[in-house]
Amino acid sequence: WIKEGLAIIIVGASGDLAKKKTYPSLLSLFTGNLLPSNVVIYGYARSKITNDQLRAKLRPYLDGKAKSDVIEDFLSRCYYQAGDCYGDLVSWSSLNDSITQYEQDLKDTKGIDRSNRLFYFAIPPNVFAETGGAIKVTCMSPNGFSRMIVEKPFGRDLESCKDILQRLGQHFDEQSLYRIDHYLGKELVQNLMVMRFSNLWMENIWNRNCVQCIMLTFKEPFGTEGRGGYFDQYGIIRDIIQNHLLQVMCLLCMECPNKLDGPGSGEKIRNEKVRLLEAMPPVTIDEVFLGQYEGYTDDETITNKDSNCPTFAIIRCFINNPRWAGVPIIFKAGKALNERKAEMRVQFKPAPAAETLFNGVEVPRNELVMKLQPGESIYLKSNIKTPGFSSTPIQSELEVKYDTRYLAKCSSCNPDAYSRLMLDVLRGRSANFVRSDELIRAWEIFTPVLHQIDEENIRPHSYKVGSRGPDEADKFFAEKSGYLRNDAYIWEDGNIC
Ligand code: BG6
Repeated sequence: WIKEGLAIIIVGASGDLAKKKTYPSLLSLFTGNLLPSNVVIYGYARSKITNDQLRAKLRPYLDGKAKSDVIEDFLSRCYYQAGDCYGDLVSWSSLNDSITQYEQDLKDTKGIDRSNRLFYFAIPPNVFAETGGAIKVTCMSPNGFSRMIVEKPFGRDLESCKDILQRLGQHFDEQSLYRIDHYLGKELVQNLMVMRFSNLWMENIWNRNCVQCIMLTFKEPFGTEGRGGYFDQYGIIRDIIQNHLLQVMCLLCMECPNKLDGPGSGEKIRNEKVRLLEAMPPVTIDEVFLGQYEGYTDDETITNKDSNCPTFAIIRCFINNPRWAGVPIIFKAGKALNERKAEMRVQFKPAPAAETLFNGVEVPRNELVMKLQPGESIYLKSNIKTPGFSSTPIQSELEVKYDTRYLAKCSSCNPDAYSRLMLDVLRGRSANFVRSDELIRAWEIFTPVLHQIDEENIRPHSYKVGSRGPDEADKFFAEKSGYLRNDAYIWEDGNIC
């Protein structure tokens, strides 16, 4: 495909997602010569603007992300097509004419007779169907692939998800649909399968005999910031836990697929994720703790001033299979907290007879921490002898820090998640995209409790902006996880970690 023609069509080109994520990620691929040299990018949206006006709108979001001549070269390939609505057949036909002309020129001047089309749906799901219908009728590639990238939200619950799946499914088969969960494009998440399935030691300890609990954490130091209209309809469970953290958990806990790379691996990997999700019973309300930060409803875009929408949640799940039965899986996510952090943390059971061996000294448990962001790193909290004359065990770490070990030497070692995922779509790699049966199962696990929260108007605990969350959260977490905190452990920056 890199030697063929490529037209990328960004639907919803004037929206926030397109400006902040889609175009900058394409620029990054373009800068790295990871797109065909003749690529063109068409924006489609309802605003009546010209090509030059689109370029002027995009420029501030691209500035500083590449050399200015590269940005100008990139922008010169960006065109715009306005439509009265997303299903406007006349406008889509006109866009098709422009792309067809581009493809014809490629054939005439360079002898390239195959050209592909990549459609990026940066639009809300209520217009997926009309957009898909119009593309199907007017704008599919006559001789290359036509692939659709779709963004969440994929519904609010099981029923609405099925509806969205059906609306797009009537126009495109599963192979041409790529549902993005950008967490799957993060370097440390990508690393999971390699780390798990290429290390002998991991396989032997990765089960209920050795693992005390598994924790997946997402923390953000800001609130809804103008996205309240969207957020209030969804809440933190739908926004973060049911998708991003659950996806990460699947890679952390699933069985080994028979193929990890190459043709066919995408389906094998996703089969294993579905198998894992099928072993998870739906979440019940007693396994859920909710919080909302003070002042949440002051956001002008939130109309329901009595909203019970959670901005913080802790949820405990279980996986009822031979590997994980009885091991608490804890999801914790919150907005407007004290820090930005996303990590996976696995605490192991105590080493056998450790206390007896060390004369009654409490020996800390091992813990494997994979920090997704910021400061990507992996460390195994392990006990060593206290340096010096004492022989008492203390907790230290075996670690890989990405910035010093890799990133300092290699700028392409941590590509942006969206760039990586778009490249995957161009390469036809589906493993990092969410298949429809995965999505359905994910909703089956969370829908009953989400409905209960809505119907019974369950009130969240309140917490201060910039805090660690509601005061009661720590108690809930401790009771549900069995996690043992080692307060003596000091991370190098002086914080207990
Ligand atoms: C999005 C959520 O999917 O992920 C946002 O809708 C959240 O609410 C964002 O802020 C976090 O992404 P990242 O990559 O910054 O951790």
